Amino acid sequence: MLEFDTVEIRRQCMFSGMSSESYHEPIELLSEETKNTHRAIVSLKEELEAIDWYQQRAEACTDPELSAVLVHNKNEEVEHAMMTLEWLRRNVPVFDANIDMYLKSSGPITEVEKNATGAGEAKPKASGSTINSPSLGIGSLKGMK
Ligand SMILES: [Fe+2]
Repeated sequence: MLEFDTVEIRRQCMFSGMSSESYHEPIELLSEETKNTHRAIVSLKEELEAIDWYQQRAEACTDPELSAVLVHNKNEEVEHAMMTLEWLRRNVPVFDANIDMYLKSSGPITEVEKNATGAGEAKPKASGSTINSPSLGIGSLKGMK
């Protein structure tokens, strides 16, 4: 039944090719919140990969018109990536806290946290944190602008 096996393999690839392919824990142990966050993270990774691929193709392409199309496609992928990042920001507070601190900041990036939280200030310890806790080692950043 080679034909059936091929169809079955394709079917399994279709499902394993979805966002469930990279679960690292039994799915029955994962909340809907974690599964949706996983979907967003996988989608973001795919968008970032696509940006990289289009950038390389556009640069290597010897046809200027095709190169322009590839750059256009790359820029569309940037939009998709930012939409997915925005979903993560709205739904996972630790993303919100870090985006709030780092995006559109100025000065040396490695100094942003120190400047935002105060030099030498001890960071609050994360205790009882979940994936949606903003206090995963970065402290409370709300209202610190
Ligand atoms: Fe995309």
